[in-house]
Amino acid sequence: MPRAELARAAARLAEGAPDAFRVAALHHPLTGAPWRSRKRPLTRRATVLAQLQAAGTELIVAGHIHQVSACAGPEFELGREGVVLTTAPGLGRPRPRRSHEACGALLYTIETQTLDVATYLWRQPTFALTGVRQFARSDSTLAEVRAGDSAPRATATENVSEPATTVPDD
Ligand SMILES: [Fe+2]
Repeated sequence: MPRAELARAAARLAEGAPDAFRVAALHHPLTGAPWRSRKRPLTRRATVLAQLQAAGTELIVAGHIHQVSACAGPEFELGREGVVLTTAPGLGRPRPRRSHEACGALLYTIETQTLDVATYLWRQPTFALTGVRQFARSDSTLAEVRAGDSAPRATATENVSEPATTVPDD
């Protein structure tokens, strides 16, 4: 992602209301299946993630690899609370002579304290629910939210700083 484009996106995200739910949509994923050798993740992913998160982004959605994933930030990097990353299946996939692709869509349900991500896969003649993941919309854990013991969501300007460890961009 070009630096100017990332800076413009972060500025737009930061302009929103403090309690707005901020979503960034990218073509290339930040997580997913690295074994698809010709389907690379986003370049400069650590930088992009840090800047989008610092701008208050709670959800980053992507596609490209046409396989579903949904994870909270700390599930792939310690200290990444407050953001969820998803990769959607392909709609109209798999294509002829292509393997490792799924056909379907993700449905997001945003509540005050939680974010649900539901997977609907195409099962002719309709879509079928195949899975749901629920995430906390705060720096709290989902267990704390469910127990009614969650901290209020941080605002965009006080949200998240750079990770404690530096990981080279890939
Ligand atoms: Fe693509």
